[in-house]
Amino acid sequence: MGLMVHGLVRWLVLGGAVAATVLAWQASRGRAVSAPLHKRANLLYLISVDVQLVLGLWLWLQSPLVKSARLDMAAAMHDPQLRFFTVEHPALLLLATVAMHVGFALAKRAQGQAAAYRKAFLAYAASLALILLAIPWPFRAVGRALWP
Ligand code: HEM
Repeated sequence: MGLMVHGLVRWLVLGGAVAATVLAWQASRGRAVSAPLHKRANLLYLISVDVQLVLGLWLWLQSPLVKSARLDMAAAMHDPQLRFFTVEHPALLLLATVAMHVGFALAKRAQGQAAAYRKAFLAYAASLALILLAIPWPFRAVGRALWP
């Protein structure tokens, strides 16, 4: 159940990430961006990533896969599937969450200044890149389904 929700919330995270990143980029170019739309996109990204972080931490603690890895971490590090879900996926997505929060804080403070939105855009783009890198896409060796 938790894993299914985590797999679905991934799409909210990606939608929020793309919208917030594109809008920060447009604002950084001095284009007029609807303020309510911009605020909603930033909030969607913030809330979905924070929900995903809590779900992820819970999965990490109770997933049979990660539990089995934690029984013998040295051996798990030699198994690409166990290493991915126990270490790589959580570490990259913790970093992505930090970058998203930096982007959110910068976008909030930007108040219409293009230069400030540029910094928010860079933080958001970094978080989006980390998320794309850390998702177990079906074409990867550690791949999972796109939809539960
Ligand atoms: C933006 C953040 C995140 C995204 C987009 C994301 C996405 C995903 C996706 C798509 C899956 C596969 C779901 C499935 O098999 O249907 C997954 C599995 C998993 N995620 Fe995340 N995740 C995120 C953050 C985290 C964090 C921060 C942690 C841990 C602290 C975490 C821990 C896990 C674990 C342990 C699994 C596999 C559990 C199992 O198969 O038993 N995730 N994640």
